[in-house]
Amino acid sequence: MRGLLVRRFGAPPEPSEGLTEPERAPGSSLVRMAAVTLGHLDRSVASGTFPRHPEPPYVPCGDGAGHIVESDAFPEGTLVWIRGAGLGVDRDGLAAELVAVPDEALHPAPDGTDPALAACFFSPATSAHLAVHELAGVGAGSRVLVTGAAGAVGSLAVQLARRAGAEVTGLVSRPERAALVPEGTRVLHGDADDGPYDVLIETVGGPGLATRLDAVAPGGVAVVVGYTAGTKLELDLPSRCVHDVDLRFLNMIRRAPQAFALADGLLADLSGGGLSLRVDRRPLADAAAAWADLAAGRARGRVVLELPR
Ligand SMILES: NC(=O)c1ccc[n+]([C@@H]2O[C@H](COP(=O)([O-])OP(=O)(O)OC[C@H]3O[C@@H](n4cnc5c(N)ncnc54)[C@H](OP(=O)(O)O)[C@@H]3O)[C@@H](O)[C@H]2O)c1
Repeated sequence: MRGLLVRRFGAPPEPSEGLTEPERAPGSSLVRMAAVTLGHLDRSVASGTFPRHPEPPYVPCGDGAGHIVESDAFPEGTLVWIRGAGLGVDRDGLAAELVAVPDEALHPAPDGTDPALAACFFSPATSAHLAVHELAGVGAGSRVLVTGAAGAVGSLAVQLARRAGAEVTGLVSRPERAALVPEGTRVLHGDADDGPYDVLIETVGGPGLATRLDAVAPGGVAVVVGYTAGTKLELDLPSRCVHDVDLRFLNMIRRAPQAFALADGLLADLSGGGLSLRVDRRPLADAAAAWADLAAGRARGRVVLELPR
């Protein structure tokens, strides 16, 4: 059986043949995979520095979609999106032709759903929704700055904030990324020092976040979602106290029940065109190049590896 293997921490996943065919245990289903997502969490796990990880060699990828082959819970042929049960984090993931998946991690998708979209929507769509609505409380007239607005979470945060009636500005690293921000959005690039904003939705992090916090008005809210541009930040605490911006952090592990409750509605919205998520489709065999593009910020949307049918 074909699939991907992370053979050692720090190395990209390698296309591999001869993987052991899975056996279905009670309470699990056999799924023929159609698409798997390569995400930042998969990279963190493969670095070996994430607090939870399988021991190499292991099959990566915690999100995916496929069709039921054998199950006690779902009819054969059902398209399911897959997420949870520690897949790709505590145990082998989904990047293989056939996988045995605990039924708790299987979620049926409506007929006609694009498997690549079903494979990749969950994390960015639910994270953006919770950041914009639960943590930031964005409403009509809110002045919102979204960083990484060309990215998966960022572009959905832009759309959801605009839908809530906010005045949204998207920040991108360089001018050519502006074309990936949802159309009709005000876009800045480089260091944003304008404002003031009521809300900052921060998906890139890194040292530049200190400057962006200054662009939020006192009494405003900054929600840290991600840190693609760096994990460290130095803050001057006296000036932060005086400036009085409420710094919040999104933890999607703790908020998983809320995220799962939102998921079907968000997938329907994405399938129906009410929201859009750019998908950067690659064949499974191109996993190493896709991995490098994701790490370097060159991906043009959510990176999805499609398996041959
Ligand atoms: N807290 C949580 O529970 C949670 C949940 C979901 C996601 N996340 C995190 O949120 C972040 C964004 O996720 P995403 O799916 O939206 O990612 P993404 O689409 O790959 O990237 C978002 C943006 O980050 C910038 N970027 C990417 N790689 C970079 C690099 N190597 N150096 C500098 N900038 C880089 C890019 O900005 P430009 O386009 O402007 O270059 C990109 O558009 C990730 O860190 C992810 O792990 C966290």
